[in-house]
Amino acid sequence: MVPARSGLGRIVVACAVLVCFSWFIYSLYPGYPSFGPASEAVVQIPLQHPRPPPREVDVVVASTKSDNTTWFHRHLPPQWNKSIYVVNDPKASLTVPQNKGREAMVYLTHIVNNYHDLSDNLIFFHASRFAWHNDDPDYDGLATLQNFQLPYLRQMGYVNLRCVWVIGCPAEIRPIEDAASTEKLESRGMPSAKEVYKQSFEELLPGHPVPEVVAVSCCSQFAVTKEAIHRRPRKDYMHFLQWLLNTPLEDALSGRVFEFAWHIIFDQEAVHCPSAEDCYCKVFGHCGLNCTENECDGRYTLPPVATLPGGWPKVGWEKEPRPFSGPPL
Ligand SMILES: *[C@@H]1O[C@H](CO)[C@@H](O)[C@H](O)[C@H]1NC(C)=O
Ligand SMILES: *[C@@H]1O[C@H](CO)[C@@H](O)[C@H](O)[C@H]1NC(C)=O
Ligand SMILES: *[C@@H]1O[C@H](CO)[C@@H](O)[C@H](O)[C@H]1NC(C)=O
Repeated sequence: MVPARSGLGRIVVACAVLVCFSWFIYSLYPGYPSFGPASEAVVQIPLQHPRPPPREVDVVVASTKSDNTTWFHRHLPPQWNKSIYVVNDPKASLTVPQNKGREAMVYLTHIVNNYHDLSDNLIFFHASRFAWHNDDPDYDGLATLQNFQLPYLRQMGYVNLRCVWVIGCPAEIRPIEDAASTEKLESRGMPSAKEVYKQSFEELLPGHPVPEVVAVSCCSQFAVTKEAIHRRPRKDYMHFLQWLLNTPLEDALSGRVFEFAWHIIFDQEAVHCPSAEDCYCKVFGHCGLNCTENECDGRYTLPPVATLPGGWPKVGWEKEPRPFSGPPL
């Protein structure tokens, strides 16, 4: 009887192993119930078909046909997704329903079309690597992206990619006052974003009280987490997109309205002006800067005009050669 018992024992053990193994295979598939402690015992076994890596970052870029956007692919981590929209090329792999409202149309199109399948962190950015508003001594957008502190975004949900207060802070728009000011309107013949902000805001965010003051450092480049985007239902973004498609406002104005509304859309206070010193440290890792009201140790100087000289960053404002030690061009 002894040999027969041990034969039965072997069968029991073999069955147990088979069951455990099936549970293991079973538990590899997402969406299947996990078997709790059993899965702890199997984590040592290397997975033959690992799940795709988490889609950590998506850089959403607003470009036109004439922009050269190869720098995003060349210099940013290969695992960062690059969603490069070309607004004036209907044949581009990513484009917009209508080239209207500047970068706002790109950002909204991306959110609406990918709402249920967003990366964990989204960075909304313009196409040019060098632009007057980039918060860097060389106006180098690549440096701002490379220095960007992703963990801080995860903590905050929304982070503006500019710290300096010049243009946008501390009180760019006073919607109610500015809407009533017809004096400026008469002298210039056309409204500015300040004057159209109140009505636009009421149309975009009905039920949200119009803030007395709206401020955020300029220029519509920011990062948001998927969670922050998902705090609003998709239909809100569809409404914003529809508003942009319908508005009679010129692009410069409708784009500007969004420039000063994104932070409110993403649940920030209407005045979003963290101290520049603190911002440089937390957003870009430049800590211990000494800031005055308008600048922090030369991190950003408002340029004389909005167009950088040809040959920048190796050629300066007076056509002089300029030292540039940033990331390769
Ligand atoms: C785009 O820029 C890269 C440098 O980043 C350069 O090598 C390339 O030739 C440029 N492409 C065009 C079409 O100008
Ligand atoms: C990644 O980028 C591609 C374009 O290169 C875009 O079609 C896609 O929606 C993006 N995916 C995610 C998850 O962001
Ligand atoms: C800021 O100022 C302090 C004291 O004047 C100085 O020690 C420090 O080096 C300065 N920081 C920077 C980044 O220049």
